[in-house]
Amino acid sequence: MVSASILNKQELQPLIQLDGVEKSFGPNVVLEGVDFDLRPGEVHALCGENGAGKSTCLGILYGLHQPSNGKSCAMAENSGSKARLMLNR
Ligand SMILES: Nc1ncnc2c1ncn2[C@@H]1O[C@H](COP(=O)(O)OP(=O)(O)OP(=O)(O)O)[C@@H](O)[C@H]1O
Ligand SMILES: [Mg+2]
Repeated sequence: MVSASILNKQELQPLIQLDGVEKSFGPNVVLEGVDFDLRPGEVHALCGENGAGKSTCLGILYGLHQPSNGKSCAMAENSGSKARLMLNR
C-alpha cells in the first residue's frame, strides 16, 4: 500500500524545472515563456510540429543551450555520495 503523502506529488520537489524560459536564435524566437516542472513519478510527453522547439527545450535542460531569458534547473544525483543538488542551467 502507498501512503497518501507519497501520492501528493505537489509536496515533492521538482526534478526538472523551467521557469519563464525564452530562447531565440538570432531573430528566430523559438521558445517563449515556457514554464514546466517534473516531479518524481510523473511521465510527460513533449509534442510539437517540426521546428516547434522540442530539442531546443531539452538542450536547455541538458545545458547545451543557454536560455535567452528565464531559468532552467535539473536535479543531479552523485551516485558515489548520494548527494543531490539542483543544477542551474
Ligand atoms: N543551433 C541552432 N542555431 C540556429 N537555429 C536553431 C538551432 N537549433 C535549432 N534552431 C532553430 O530553432 C527552431 C526549433 O528547432 P528544434 O530543433 O528545437 O525543433 P524540434 O521541435 O526539435 O524539431 P524536430 O521535430 O524537427 O526535431 C527551428 O526553427 C530551428 O531551425
Ligand atoms: Mg528535435
